[in-house]
Amino acid sequence: MSWGSGKGLAGLAGAGLTAMAASTAVVGGSVPMTTFSEHVAPIVFKNCSSCHRPGEAAPFSFLTYDDVRKRGRLIVSVIEDRFMPPWHAETGPLEFLGERRLSEEEIQTISTWVESGMALGDPKAMPPVPDFPVGWQLGEPDLIVRMDEAFEVPAEGPDIYRHFVLPLDLPEDKWVTAIEFRPGARSVVHHCLFFTDTTGRARKADAATPLPGFTRMGSALRGSGRLGGWAVGGNPRLLPEGLAQRLPKGADLVLQTHFHPSGKVEKEQSTVGLYFTEKAPKQSFAGVQLPPSFGALSGLDIPAGEANHALTDSFVLPVDVKAFAVSAHAHYLGKDMVMTATWPDGETRELLSIPEWDFSWQEQYTYKEMVSLPKGTRLNVTIHYDNSEENPNNPSDPPVRVRWGRESTDEMGSMTLRVIAENPSEMPILRKALKDHSRDVVRGRISDRISSKGGRDLGRRWLLQRLDRDGDGELSDEERAAGLRRLGGR
Ligand code: HEC
Repeated sequence: MSWGSGKGLAGLAGAGLTAMAASTAVVGGSVPMTTFSEHVAPIVFKNCSSCHRPGEAAPFSFLTYDDVRKRGRLIVSVIEDRFMPPWHAETGPLEFLGERRLSEEEIQTISTWVESGMALGDPKAMPPVPDFPVGWQLGEPDLIVRMDEAFEVPAEGPDIYRHFVLPLDLPEDKWVTAIEFRPGARSVVHHCLFFTDTTGRARKADAATPLPGFTRMGSALRGSGRLGGWAVGGNPRLLPEGLAQRLPKGADLVLQTHFHPSGKVEKEQSTVGLYFTEKAPKQSFAGVQLPPSFGALSGLDIPAGEANHALTDSFVLPVDVKAFAVSAHAHYLGKDMVMTATWPDGETRELLSIPEWDFSWQEQYTYKEMVSLPKGTRLNVTIHYDNSEENPNNPSDPPVRVRWGRESTDEMGSMTLRVIAENPSEMPILRKALKDHSRDVVRGRISDRISSKGGRDLGRRWLLQRLDRDGDGELSDEERAAGLRRLGGR
């Protein structure tokens, strides 16, 4: 590059070195200056305003020059840290729909604008404030249900998790293609997970408390199915390829809502729109959940103070599949998690990596294009937990030993890849392999547990019931050996 001529300098500014261009803007009239109307507003309107506007969950609006100028420095710090826009998946080779991420260039443009004094520029160059969609985003739903009573969220205090039961009273099974969730008080609803309950347990738990809904996650959700979820900024999306999820007749819809008090008392009464398809879909999909959910026998046991406890699992695909979405789940001790695929030829790629897990952002990540994974591909999952004092999200201070459980102070951990079989007739092979995998994992845990003496852990009562032949409340060496033989010999 030549520094010897004026042409070289002009070339520099033109090459996008906006930091330099802006700091010299006052000198040369010909050098472009970074302004709000021309450069910053388009970035903010496109990437920030959908959440940062009145009535949404973000704490303030970004719709005008003044809104943004007032918080210029704070904005630069949160975008440089990539705290905003919120997006927890690492950018890998595979792209997701609705990815919320600023490019390096966009970050540079905003920081240059802030450093150079935050000029408005020509108001006529300003793009219009975007029109945010009102009403149902996927058209009129087939079924609309609403919480029958509002729940009052206090102005202050810790976050609240609460479950609300919405009876659907469906006389027959339905196939769900999408769910649209519309909070009544968007400023306090952070996320919501949808469950179906056919056991009546959730209704009972609800009836047992005077206020709308109930708090405990525990047994009231046992036996319930998952139907996806919604998080701040999320848009409803149809399942791809004509897929649909079965909603059993008579099931209740249970909303698990996470509230973040806003400083003002709010009344929340959510509405949910369900979209059905008339016919059963031509093919079904499966969730490859690793590790599989196996409750108290999961073996998840995180010592107090341990900062990098690992949970791993691995599964080899028995048929060719196409993956369309991936998600992850853990509670407050979750630290980072990654799912990789190792192709039969040895190449390894990340399917989802969340380097900084945040319990508040439980998202379903949908691939822009389906990912083909041939038979023989190995899926590996590694989840780390931080149960040290250093973890600001640790619900216990000082830290305590934490095991598997449904309460948010217990832990869970798994990643789920949603797949269809390349050849739909091979779906039963995949389902059988998943079942076998689950059984093998449980068997491994049980044999670990039988081998380890003592310890008052969660599977103990279960084991005693089955293996304590003489009923003395202890497992003798003989009883242990017999138990292991039974496991191995099945
Ligand atoms: C998907 C919704 C969403 C989008 C998009 C979004 N924000 Fe936010 N923003 C939030 C929420 C919610 C909070 C409150 C903090 C939290 O809950 O994590 C927040 C908080 C902030 C804060 C306050 C941080 C603090 O420490 O007080 C700033 C500044 C901010 N956002 C800037 C931005 C900018 C700039 C963009 C665009 C580049 C953006 N946000 C895009 C939802 C969003």
